[in-house]
Amino acid sequence: MLHLEVLDTPEAVTERALEVFLTTVQEAVQKQGRCSVALCGGSTPQALYAQLALRSGVPWAQVHFFFGDDRYVPHDHPNSNYRMVQEVLFSKAPIPLENIHPMPTGKTAAEDAQAYAATLADYFRPEPPRFDLILLGMGNDGHTASLFPGDESLEATGVVTVAHPRLSEEAIATAPVRLTFTFSTLNQAHKVLFLITGKAKQKILAQVLKGEGGFPAGRVRPLGELLFIIDRAASSASD
Ligand code: 6PG
Repeated sequence: MLHLEVLDTPEAVTERALEVFLTTVQEAVQKQGRCSVALCGGSTPQALYAQLALRSGVPWAQVHFFFGDDRYVPHDHPNSNYRMVQEVLFSKAPIPLENIHPMPTGKTAAEDAQAYAATLADYFRPEPPRFDLILLGMGNDGHTASLFPGDESLEATGVVTVAHPRLSEEAIATAPVRLTFTFSTLNQAHKVLFLITGKAKQKILAQVLKGEGGFPAGRVRPLGELLFIIDRAASSASD
């Protein structure tokens, strides 16, 4: 079931996302002693990560951070999602290093995708990877994680795959090669939370919410909860 929350401003989206994040962590830790979260890149979640860094009382020792996608660049590269989160969150909160699981780079993209799938398998064993929370954004072209329109990664059947943003010049410029969770991994999640703001997303988002247009973001239909928290500008009801 898809739940949609439309809030007035991007700030309100961040605030609500923070609440959902903290509740999810609390419930998962209470139930199973730990919580698995997959983060996304992009600009929208940065305020959430910054807010999280300021929170006290978060059971950081029990929260494990993974990445749903990353640009295939070194970890200190300006376009690395890991670098962004390291800067705004990991370096600022008392999160144990062993709880941070960045996507690897340094071999070949295919080998590193396999290595990350093995990291997930180790964490979730004996179950298949089933995240407590996956954060996602949506690009203006309807991509999510690094699952881009027109790329063969959309049909990948494994856990983590190599991806190419073939049709988006902007995304190609940021990183022509990426690693990403497949739909199958996204769709195993207990909870997927999309954070989407801004008028540029409005048209495609309206279709994604209706399951129309075949956009990658519209193919995320997890076994668990699917929650969209968006601002008024991104909502088609705002015209
Ligand atoms: C990335 C992403 C990507 C992002 C969307 C939305 O690495 O860029 O994980 O899927 O979430 O492009 O980005 P914005 O939040 O900047 O609109």
